[in-house]
Amino acid sequence: MKKKKRLGILTGGGDCAGLNAVIRAAVRTADSLGWESVGIQESFGGLLNIKRSRVLRPVDVRGILHTGGTILGTTNHGDPFNFPKRTSKGTEYADRSGEVVRNFKKLGLEGLVIIGGDGTLKIGLRFQRLGIPVVGVPKTIDNDVAATQITFGFDTAVSIATEALDRLHTTAFSHRRVMVLEVMGRNVGWIALHAGIAGGADVILIPEIPFDIDKVCAKIRDRARRGRRFSIVVTSEGAVPKGGVQKFQAAAEAGREARLGGIGEIVSDRICDVTGAETRAIVLGHLQRGGRPTNFDRLLGTRFGSSAVRAAIEGKWGRMVALRPPSIQLVPLEKAVAHIKRVPKGSDVVRAARDLGISFGD
Ligand code: F6P
Repeated sequence: MKKKKRLGILTGGGDCAGLNAVIRAAVRTADSLGWESVGIQESFGGLLNIKRSRVLRPVDVRGILHTGGTILGTTNHGDPFNFPKRTSKGTEYADRSGEVVRNFKKLGLEGLVIIGGDGTLKIGLRFQRLGIPVVGVPKTIDNDVAATQITFGFDTAVSIATEALDRLHTTAFSHRRVMVLEVMGRNVGWIALHAGIAGGADVILIPEIPFDIDKVCAKIRDRARRGRRFSIVVTSEGAVPKGGVQKFQAAAEAGREARLGGIGEIVSDRICDVTGAETRAIVLGHLQRGGRPTNFDRLLGTRFGSSAVRAAIEGKWGRMVALRPPSIQLVPLEKAVAHIKRVPKGSDVVRAARDLGISFGD
């Protein structure tokens, strides 16, 4: 019997809803086109220790379409070009990319389908240049990957944040409070903007539009003057006050990237001090990443997984699948990682929010 060609599949960076939908679609598409899939465990770490890689057949991806997380495991600190190792002196870094290339060949793979955000796709591009053929699939709740209208995972995160805002409304109304919800998004404000509009927020703070706390307070006072019992503020974790800096969590562990967080509490305290309103800050955190994907993310993940495998089988390496409505298209990986996709300040979405009286604090 003729040996089947093999395709490696890995997930990298933070998890999000829809990863399993991509894996399932990729494995089933490969199988129906006569190729074999190999699941690489724990991102590129699975190419440093190939005992962790296993053949994935359609039966292995049964029942995962609606599940969160990734059956392959993932990490956001396993860059083989700068691979961390804990020693008695702390964390040291080594370039282990050569081992990855050797193990890729040992596994007899034709190429890799790399499912990840900006960071993982950049690593993928470096391996493409070292001779490992790759196709990228854009993943992240942040929606910050350029060249695709939407990344999978984003819609689920927005749905969860919107539901949180719905729930906060009832407490805000009952107690006459100002509720400040901090959402994820790193350096872009897509989640806050979309959930803020869908969830009926009064103030939306995003990194792309530095805010003036006095303007935020003026909006809240104005609502109170007009007899409104409460106000809802949604802030991106990366939102920044005019002339100020982003807020990071206290102790960044040695060798780890500093993590954004805490701006919600600051905004909440300032609103309380300036307006006298009773305020509460809520951090939604990783709830935005876990759990069941929305139908949109299941469908997008499925389309991405199937298109990525077709691209690989057709030898269209060095590309990323991208949603360019109405179709999924292939874009050069270089283009996808050249910059992150920020919220355009003049977009119709921002304009619609302003038309509705939502304040950006500017
Ligand atoms: O990039 C996805 C994301 O969830 C960001 O929105 C957030 O800043 C970061 O990852 C959190 O990372 P970790 O899971 O390492 O805390």
